[in-house]
Amino acid sequence: MSDSKSVTCTAPVNIAVVKYWGKRDEKLILPLNASLGLTMDMNDLCATTTVQASPSFTEDCLWLNDCKEPISKRFKACLEKAKSVARKHLTGDEAKAAILDWHVHVCSRNNFPTAAGLASSAAGYACLGYSFAQLYGVQDEVSVIARLGSGSACRSTAGGFVLWTMGEREDGDDSVAVEVSPASAWPDLEVLILVVNDRRKDTSSTAGMQTSVQTSQLLKHRAAVLVPDLLRGMEEAIHNKDFATFADLTMKDSNQFHAVCLDTYPPIFYLNDTSRRIIQMVTKVNAACGEAKVAYTFDAGPNAVLFVRSKDVEQIAALCDYLFVSGKQSDNLDQALVDQLSLTAEANSVRNIIRTKAGPGPRRLPDEKGLLDSNGLPLPV
Ligand code: DP6
Repeated sequence: MSDSKSVTCTAPVNIAVVKYWGKRDEKLILPLNASLGLTMDMNDLCATTTVQASPSFTEDCLWLNDCKEPISKRFKACLEKAKSVARKHLTGDEAKAAILDWHVHVCSRNNFPTAAGLASSAAGYACLGYSFAQLYGVQDEVSVIARLGSGSACRSTAGGFVLWTMGEREDGDDSVAVEVSPASAWPDLEVLILVVNDRRKDTSSTAGMQTSVQTSQLLKHRAAVLVPDLLRGMEEAIHNKDFATFADLTMKDSNQFHAVCLDTYPPIFYLNDTSRRIIQMVTKVNAACGEAKVAYTFDAGPNAVLFVRSKDVEQIAALCDYLFVSGKQSDNLDQALVDQLSLTAEANSVRNIIRTKAGPGPRRLPDEKGLLDSNGLPLPV
């Protein structure tokens, strides 16, 4: 298919330490408050997407983890935004602009299970937005294109600590991702993701936050009054690599987000018994050590994301493995600490632990990494 054009890109997961929860515009996906998150290393967690455009395609098609999916409104919104940004650059160049009339075939895969509820749609939409931008030669507004797919995808379009600004404009073009600190700036900050054994979540973030906006007074207060202060403190802690403050604010923000969920009517429960046991472990470890060794945050599901410094990571990973995964005492386990915690091990309550760290934003991959064949159909895995 000589006329077709194809690009393949990969995009990361970004986990919020100041959460986004609630939209002021459903269609443009504009948030009630700014949020801040850390982009994770794509070697551990990423989405990969191939986008192919061809004059011979008769419709837009999407394959997600090898299942053909219907084209959603959000997919269309990303595509249309990418095209409208491209049109501004391509006016006058009719030959190049022809691609904007072609249909696209898209194939996207995650290197982690979607069912694990690990911001997979955020990485997926960030990858989609970035791939469309690459396909049409668009440099700017990538985070706006991704945001139209999923709010948190906005933050996955950059590396390191990323701020998603609230913006003020009605068209949403100032609600964008801004890198606050590159991935390399805090090298001894590490991440342990505890994938909790559970069925898939019942309430999607999209539906959950809609009910919170309609019913939670606490959300209004959080968005207008509490988050601006929290963000200032968080940015300062990140710049100073002040782990104690970072840990304190991260855990308080997570607690506040889940308090908003509880203040929603009917209430939303994302944490389960295992999540609460993880919170208890973190609190007890920090108290026993007399300093912040580890911090937790939880999104719209029971999985825990723990932040630890390199000097403590082996010990904390061994403790989590003992208490929640294998129930076995490895060499790195600090037995004196275990005795002090007086917690009983509950093996298999966590399926696995993903160890990762900060990473850069999306990038284009060489063509041979493509997921579609020359006819625009998914290649076998
Ligand atoms: C709890 O981005 O999934 O993970 O914009 O409706 O697609 P939509 O919602 P989504 O919400 C993410 C919520 C969160 C917090 C966060 O990532 O900031």
